Amino acid sequence: MAERIKVLLSEEEVDRRIQEIGEQISRDYEGKQVHLVCVLKGGSFFMCELAKRITVPVSLDFMSVSSYGSSTKSSGVVKIVKDLDEPLKDKEVIVVEDVVDSGRTLSYLLEMLRDRGPRSLRLCTLLDKPDRRVVDVDVDYTGFQIPDKFVVGYGLDYDQRYRNLPYIGVVEFE
Ligand code: IMP
Ligand code: MG
Repeated sequence: MAERIKVLLSEEEVDRRIQEIGEQISRDYEGKQVHLVCVLKGGSFFMCELAKRITVPVSLDFMSVSSYGSSTKSSGVVKIVKDLDEPLKDKEVIVVEDVVDSGRTLSYLLEMLRDRGPRSLRLCTLLDKPDRRVVDVDVDYTGFQIPDKFVVGYGLDYDQRYRNLPYIGVVEFE
């Protein structure tokens, strides 16, 4: 099936918002070091851009998870495909995600990471689809709230493509 991508959030809008979040995190964590945890692969573009705009000391780690269940609906039971390299004990951790959709993956993941004893644990997401929420998740930093549409770009994929788009677009099927 052929698809078209319609711009929802331009590169300039996304850049401007990431700058604002970077400044806010820099203020909130003044005098501390933040440890950014990227959820691969979708969170990678956002995390790199965000990290460049944070002015307090930053360390980075990456993890990859897959959710059991059908491909269209996450079950909330998360399998760790690649775990973090570093322990989280006593760190000021911010989990960086591309999008919070049903919230199933994130609520499971955050609980698991909390058990590792970070000093603090916050969630930063580029996109939030509040209409889709099934499980409550506390989001501390949100780039944009968007409607219930399937989007790509800035790390988000459709069938592994379009992650490299420098803007956020809605997939339209022809
Ligand atoms: P959930 O919050 O557990 O439902 O799952 C969120 C995950 O589903 C995200 O991390 C994405 O990998 C994927 N996802 C949700 N909505 C979209 C979308 O609009 N485009 C691309 N991937 C999405
Ligand atoms: Mg994701």
